[in-house]
Amino acid sequence: MTPRHYLQFRDFSREELDTLFERTRWIKDKFKRYEAYHPLHDRTLVMIFEKASTRTRLSFEAGMQQLGGSAIYLNTRDSQLGRGEPVEDAAQVISRMSDVVMIRTFEQEIIERFASHSRVPVINGLTNEYHPCQILADIYTFIEQRGPIQGKTVAWVGDSNNVCNTWLQAAEVFDFNVHVSTPPGYEVEPERAGLYGTDHFEEFADPMDATRGADLVTTDVWTSMGFEAENEARCKAFADWQVDGEMMKAAKAEAVFMHCLPAHRGEEVSAEVIGGPQSVVWDEAENRLHVQKALLEFLLIGRVKS
Ligand code: CP
Ligand code: NVA
Repeated sequence: MTPRHYLQFRDFSREELDTLFERTRWIKDKFKRYEAYHPLHDRTLVMIFEKASTRTRLSFEAGMQQLGGSAIYLNTRDSQLGRGEPVEDAAQVISRMSDVVMIRTFEQEIIERFASHSRVPVINGLTNEYHPCQILADIYTFIEQRGPIQGKTVAWVGDSNNVCNTWLQAAEVFDFNVHVSTPPGYEVEPERAGLYGTDHFEEFADPMDATRGADLVTTDVWTSMGFEAENEARCKAFADWQVDGEMMKAAKAEAVFMHCLPAHRGEEVSAEVIGGPQSVVWDEAENRLHVQKALLEFLLIGRVKS
C-alpha cells in the first residue's frame, strides 16, 4: 500500500486540515494539563537534516517522545547520505527500519524521490521550495488568536522563498488572500510555488501597500539556507523591505505579526515589531510542537475522534 506523505501544503484537503487542527487543539490541551497521551508507543521517527535546525528538530523529537515513540536524528555530515548514497537506496533502507521519516533538504525533487521509494510516510521539514509544517503552525496560531482565516489578508514582505510559497499554497486551500511585496528580481514564481492560479495573491511594489489593511503581517530572512553566496547582494536589494512600526501601523489595528524564526533584527524585521504587542512569534514557534504531533498521529494512525 502506498503511504500517505506530507510533502507540500496542498497534500491535505481543507477538510483534513480542519480535522488536523481539531486534533491539535485536543493534543495541546491534554499536554497543558500534564496528561499522558502515548498513541505512538514503539513507533520510530527518523529525522534527516541536510540543513541546520533548532525548532524543527526539537519539536519533532520532543513531540514524538511525548506521543510515546522515539526519534532518531541523522545528518549528512555523519551518515552515508553525505557520501553520495543514492536517495532511493537510503529511502528503501531507512523506511524498513522506521515508521515515519521527516526530511529537511535542498530541492523539493530530493524529498519527492525519497518519498516515492519509502514504505512509510515522509514529512517535509523544509526544502528550498516549501516549509509546510511551518504554515500549519502559523495558520493554527492565527485561528487560535483571531478565528477563521478564510477571507482574511496576509501581507508577506521580503523574499519569495519556501515559507512565502507555502503561504501562497495555503491561501488556495483556505481561501484567503496574500499581498506580497518583494524587491524587483525576487518576485513570486507561481509554478515553483506549485500554485493552481494567481487568484489568491496580489503583488505590490511598495511593502507599505502590501501591509495596508492586512490581518496578519509576516516576513522571513532575506537569505535562506542554501543561498548564502547571495547574501551581500540580497542585503542591498532587501534594505527597504524591513517590517517596521510604520508598516504595522498600515495594517489593521488587531493585525498580528508572525515570523517562522530564526529572525535577524534590523534586517527583515525591527526589534520593536518582533518584540512588540502584535508579535505572536513565541506562540507560533510553540505551536510547531502541537500541530506536528497531530500530523504524526494523522499519518500513523489516521483520523482519531477528539
Ligand atoms: N522555523 C524553523 O523551521 O526553524 P528551524 O530552522 O530552527 O527548524
Ligand atoms: N526561509 C528560511 C526558513 C528557515 C526556517 C530558510 O529556508 O532558511
